Amino acid sequence: MLEAVRVMCAERGVPCELAMEAPMACGFGACMGCAIPRAEGGYMRLCLDGPVVRGEEIQTALLPGSGH
Ligand code: FES
Repeated sequence: MLEAVRVMCAERGVPCELAMEAPMACGFGACMGCAIPRAEGGYMRLCLDGPVVRGEEIQTALLPGSGH
């Protein structure tokens, strides 16, 4: 559902914020288990940079292991 909201907002130029969920092993930025791809390249760690992110910051809200 988060990906549907992200795409719908992007298509209409509406800003959105998404409360992301990802498996977090360490919770302080060491393991990269919560990394998701940034729209401009590279990755962000949801434990440090999120878990709420702006929709335009990420490539997708579909994450392996997040139950989506
Ligand atoms: S949970 Fe380990 S880097 Fe985010």
